[in-house]
Amino acid sequence: MAKAKIQFPRGFLWGTATAAHQVEGQNTNNNWHAWEEAGKTVDKSGLACDWWGGRWREDFDRAAETGQNAHRLSVEWSRIQPERDRWDESALDRYREMLRGLRDRNMTAMVTLHHFTNPLWVDDPSTDSRSGWENDETPQLFADYVRKTVSALKEYTNLWVTINEPNVYAYSGYVEGAFPPGKQDLNIALKVMVNLVRGHALAYKAIHEVQREARVGMAHQYRSIYPQKTYSPLDRWVAKVQSSIFNDLFPRAATEGKVKFLWKSIKVPEAVGTQDFLGVNYYTRDYVSFDLRMAGELFGRRSFRQDADLSETGFIANEPEGFHEAIRWANRFGKDIIVTENGVEDASDEFRPRYLAQHIEHLWRAVNFGWRVKAYFHWSLVDNFEWERGWTQRFGLWELDIETQKRRKRKSADFYEEICKTNSLSSEMVKEYCPEAMEKIFPD
Ligand code: FCB
Repeated sequence: MAKAKIQFPRGFLWGTATAAHQVEGQNTNNNWHAWEEAGKTVDKSGLACDWWGGRWREDFDRAAETGQNAHRLSVEWSRIQPERDRWDESALDRYREMLRGLRDRNMTAMVTLHHFTNPLWVDDPSTDSRSGWENDETPQLFADYVRKTVSALKEYTNLWVTINEPNVYAYSGYVEGAFPPGKQDLNIALKVMVNLVRGHALAYKAIHEVQREARVGMAHQYRSIYPQKTYSPLDRWVAKVQSSIFNDLFPRAATEGKVKFLWKSIKVPEAVGTQDFLGVNYYTRDYVSFDLRMAGELFGRRSFRQDADLSETGFIANEPEGFHEAIRWANRFGKDIIVTENGVEDASDEFRPRYLAQHIEHLWRAVNFGWRVKAYFHWSLVDNFEWERGWTQRFGLWELDIETQKRRKRKSADFYEEICKTNSLSSEMVKEYCPEAMEKIFPD
């Protein structure tokens, strides 16, 4: 076909996203460390990518040299506040240094304040005596930490994510049970969700008090949820219920001031108007069918489309139209949209190039529809510790050898470099990196 190119607007931000526990290493004072020590994960985070040992420098170099102009990272509550009445100024210094490192490389920083982990003094899954976000005191404790942290780091950024994927946090920790504390109890899950909304609202206010020009939001994981059999009213019902809980509960609470969960509605008036932008994490689409035996999962059995293009470990189906749907959904809130995560696990890097290309195409469509998408953060820069799945899933543009800490550039990193440097996706790039996707993106 004739050459073709889709071009992004000037000033579009391209980056990658990371999270403290997944890259820093030596995080031994939080609930995930306890969870790993209790043998609940495939393997342990250990040194991770050794960012705490200073290897963030070489990774930021990689990002900057390959044309990325932004990076989303998270800071670790248990380092900044190791005990209830103790702040660790040296940890804050370290984060300042990292953020300065981004600035020196001309990269915009986005900082997440809570990415799944809690300090042990807030939440110790091995004793359950400190009950994390089940405890009504935690939202205020979180806001105190946020105030302190933002005051210390505000010179380097005004883009803040209060809480990463509160829906995944509540679902995985309190419904499915794969995250600490490993409970399966819908009542507790609801309590946790309400407290997460309260924590977000208090944090939003604290951030704006210390930094007037702050832009604050949550990173929502949006999953496209379809009924397995469109002709089945029960499948349609369960898809609707699951989507409204998983996708809508948090952003709606931050708009309407109510947590709506099945027939319950809990008022959280302080949450009204606490989103300056919507962060969207998108990975895949599920098909659900009604199943009476799945009461704990709200009667829905999830699977992927039958002929799905599946990732290496079967974790993600390549469903780029769901990405379009996610951005359309976010656009309804009338705010700026930041794609805070999107990516796939693929050690062999056979699948990632087409996943990337097809998702970037849908991103471009959304931008050209006039939807306010300002940035795209790919998950992730370097292979990192994938929670309960440990090192079995490799999401990095760079491969990591955890024994030697050596990085190796995958071909997707070359591909992403071309996208970032030209602010575009061209037919030549697709032909080079994933010719199998040509027909879908640049058909003859
Ligand atoms: C998201 C998490 C992120 C990473 C990716 C693969 O749910 O926010 O930390 O684990 O999945």
